[in-house]
Amino acid sequence: MHIPDELIDSLRAARHAVVLSGAGISAESGLATFRTPQTGLWERFRPEELATPGAFRRAPALVWGWYEWRRMQVMRAEPNPAHRAVVDLRTLVPELSLVTQNVDDLHERAGSQHVIHLHGRIGQPFCEACRQPHVLPAAIPDEPENGRSLEPPSCVHCGACVRPGVVWFGESLPTLEWGKAQRAASRCDVFFCVGTSSVVQPAASLVHVALGAGAVAVQVNPNPTGLESHVTYEFPAAAGVVLPEIVRRLRAVRLG
Ligand code: OAD
Repeated sequence: MHIPDELIDSLRAARHAVVLSGAGISAESGLATFRTPQTGLWERFRPEELATPGAFRRAPALVWGWYEWRRMQVMRAEPNPAHRAVVDLRTLVPELSLVTQNVDDLHERAGSQHVIHLHGRIGQPFCEACRQPHVLPAAIPDEPENGRSLEPPSCVHCGACVRPGVVWFGESLPTLEWGKAQRAASRCDVFFCVGTSSVVQPAASLVHVALGAGAVAVQVNPNPTGLESHVTYEFPAAAGVVLPEIVRRLRAVRLG
């Protein structure tokens, strides 16, 4: 994988880098993405039946079962070299903001701190009425299979229905996280789009905020997204290959 010297120079001079990750960064950990051709979840499931407030109202057990099935996959998965490279990159630039659309915790388990989760966290469900967090058992004994229904638990505080801790289509992003992500994008020197199809708004707008503020933009994605004509550097390959190589090169110039 060829990494241009100019990108390494930009990173060496950078005061602040932003990594925006999407489902593709966890693909090499065995987690399905949403829109990768052939294998994406949205090719097998309909988002309007599983990932909207209306879907949960109509069929809470179907939706809860689907998210529990995905949560089990996350629990079985391990961070991959791309997650670890982001941890290493943090040590090689003065400031790094990690913004993710992912609801898994693989960045944290790799060692990243202060991860900005734009779309919530699958391991942190909460009561749909009083919004109190719901503590889940570490593992559920009866693992729901692909698409099998499972009744959602009741809130221990108010008895209402507990919902998955993710942001659904038609819902707003968490205000605090979104504010942090926008601020980071508007004052960074290098912005990485890693493993995201860059179609879901408002997350997809962040790279344009960064470009508008003069940042160098980098895309790491084996498939085209349409962002190719906007970014400064494009790496059409797996995140687990590209990011460790960028880290290796940057480390070499930093230490050399
Ligand atoms: P997508 O599934 O839309 O895009 C994943 C991208 O990762 C695709 O463009 C793939 O080509 C790319 N990819 C696959 N393997 C890769 C690898 N090894 N290395 C790098 N890239 C790889 O996922 P997101 O962009 O994260 O939202 O999707 C955004 C949001 O849409 C999700 O957060 C979710 C979904 O609906 C909600 O559930 C609200």
